[in-house]
Amino acid sequence: MDAFRVLGGRRLQGTVEIGGAKNAALPMMAAALLVPGRTFLRRVPHLRDVRTMRELLGALGVRGDYTDHCFEIDATTLDSHVAPYDIVRRMRASIYVLGPLLARVGKAKVSLPGGCAWGPRPVDLHLKGMEALGASVSLEEGYILAEAPPGGLRGGRIAFDISSVGATGNVLMAASLAKGTTVIENAACEPDIVALAEFLIAAGARITGQGTATIAVEGVAGLHSVEFENIPDRIEAGTYAVAAAITWGDVLLRGARADQMAIVLERLREMGAAVTEELGGVRVRGDGGGISGSGAARVGADVVGVGAGGIGAARTGPPGAASAPEGLRAIDITTQPYPGFPTDLQAQFTALLCLAQGTGVVTDTIYPDRFTHIPELIRLGAEIKLHANVVTVSGVASLQGAEVMSTDIRASSALVLAGLAAQGETRIHRVYHIDRGYESIETRLQGLGAMIERYDAGGP
Ligand code: UD1
Repeated sequence: MDAFRVLGGRRLQGTVEIGGAKNAALPMMAAALLVPGRTFLRRVPHLRDVRTMRELLGALGVRGDYTDHCFEIDATTLDSHVAPYDIVRRMRASIYVLGPLLARVGKAKVSLPGGCAWGPRPVDLHLKGMEALGASVSLEEGYILAEAPPGGLRGGRIAFDISSVGATGNVLMAASLAKGTTVIENAACEPDIVALAEFLIAAGARITGQGTATIAVEGVAGLHSVEFENIPDRIEAGTYAVAAAITWGDVLLRGARADQMAIVLERLREMGAAVTEELGGVRVRGDGGGISGSGAARVGADVVGVGAGGIGAARTGPPGAASAPEGLRAIDITTQPYPGFPTDLQAQFTALLCLAQGTGVVTDTIYPDRFTHIPELIRLGAEIKLHANVVTVSGVASLQGAEVMSTDIRASSALVLAGLAAQGETRIHRVYHIDRGYESIETRLQGLGAMIERYDAGGP
């Protein structure tokens, strides 16, 4: 099984290319099932989850050709309505085929996605959404069985109790081919949903209100072939932004869109990082810009000085710096639906707070159990207390490398980030989790000067 070896202490510098958003690409791939023709998607990241979705489309009789980050899908051959357990259990986003199958074939049998390492993650809102469009839904032997009424799905009104990205996306897709108008209230406003709506519109759907809490969909008789370019991945960009900040580095996130990650950039600024919008991307300097003018401080081999010290002690500056950066300040962070702070960056910012000055409180209101990274960060020397969904992080002067375990996509990236700033060597096991959501993370970090390598740690 693959693992990462990270030798901490290098300031990251340079440019990193931000890929297409995983969480927009996956529903768009499922939406291709609605099109009895060719769908051409550009900027699709090369990720394990994308391969899983491709496999799922294959199980439904639909071929997808993937070359150079472009996906060509032809759903003319769709010949099954069954999403099998063996594929769905690997990726919860498989539930995205439910709406398209119901709309195009009139029935769907989709394995119930299980929980994940950090919670049960229900799908009740997806099912309510389908029922609002007239479908009958039952659960049998671990499968969701859904059937459209005679004559096909019909428009309906659905007000979600909770803002759900997946349920909003599923209803959007299904309603695009339903008869009449559908109104979704308390719809998710995430850029991934806006991108999905724009993809559907490009294929002939009639949708308004995407990006707001009320979306209206006027069903059309059919969708047509479409070419579409995916949006950049704001979570990947946010992760590299933390990599810059935690190593006191200076990194240009090429292709990142500041408008889609405004609150994340704002939180970095509050901590003392310098964040600027530049031509073609966003630049993040973890030294607050204070030493960036100094040639001496900006050589690639700079090492982040990590002095031994107690809790709350300041980190010492990089050797060779004209003046030591002050270090980042702790802040409080609460996750919220978009445009609030994303839960998918909670773990990475918790890692950043471990080395900030002072105490920060992180509250996850979206997923109250999403804290499997906490015991691993503690293994690296972090000072963290967890009560229910509230994490209190007291900044320490240094982390020390250790062996740690990946448990999910974002928790794993948090461990890589901590390893980049820790003293000595950190080994991160089970990095297949990270491969689900980050394309070639080790190569990209190496390009910024990090010492990180993949190795085979043995085992299954
Ligand atoms: C998506 C993202 C995931 C991100 C999450 C929240 C994809 C592929 N995944 O997941 O990375 O962490 O949004 O931004 O896009 N809920 C219910 N019932 C449901 C569905 C959701 O109670 O039927 C709850 C969830 O438990 C959670 C909240 O709603 O508390 C939001 O979840 P949701 O937005 O649906 O997350 P996903 O779409 O699964």
